[in-house]
Amino acid sequence: MTQVSPSLLASDFTRLGEAVGTINRSHASMIHVDVMDGMFVPNISIGFPVISAISRVAEKPLDVHMMVTDPGRYINEVRDSGGWLMCVHYEACTHLHRDISAIHDAGMKAGVALNPATPVELLEDIIDDVDLVLLMSVNPGFGGQKFIPNTISKVKRLRQMIARRNSGAMIEIDGGVDLTTAPALIAAGADVLVAGSFVFKAPDPIGAINALSELG
Ligand code: DX5
Ligand code: ZN
Repeated sequence: MTQVSPSLLASDFTRLGEAVGTINRSHASMIHVDVMDGMFVPNISIGFPVISAISRVAEKPLDVHMMVTDPGRYINEVRDSGGWLMCVHYEACTHLHRDISAIHDAGMKAGVALNPATPVELLEDIIDDVDLVLLMSVNPGFGGQKFIPNTISKVKRLRQMIARRNSGAMIEIDGGVDLTTAPALIAAGADVLVAGSFVFKAPDPIGAINALSELG
């Protein structure tokens, strides 16, 4: 079964606890939390006090996607607020290997995220060290954008690299995922699908999560 990590960014923030409860009752594997700083991306979302509140009611591991410049500054904060996996952008880290090592030293799983225009081939010398690669299938910063089809080719090339290197890294896709875009992603080798609008704008969010998870 495909793993699903619903993104709270698309939920009603006046009812955040209910949104976490919805994810708790679904077949989701993780809860995707989007942190934005208004520098790396043009939007500002939520920070550590809110992540701590989410973690108090979450019954699934928190998958924290850091869309911030120099995310290595915040490793202890992510861990202390309840992060299970901390994902940092390749484009935002001057010393990616140091940051990935420090995330592991802090006791979390470590992921690296790539923007749509960043080639997967740049991961050749870090793929052995990460638990997950997040491929952005929209430009980061906002929910509800249109899926960029070139992502399918990136998933295939990354899947080949992971097989060749005998790496255990999972492939996560974030942006514009729904029942029309997911099948090709799964066929190309995606392991985890992030979905925001598709889940929280649906009349039945639990049904939407479970429908994605049952695809592959
Ligand atoms: C966008 C965020 C995504 C976002 C996805 O920058 O990283 O996690 O919530 O939203 P949808 O699924 O609506 O594209
Ligand atoms: Zn995200």
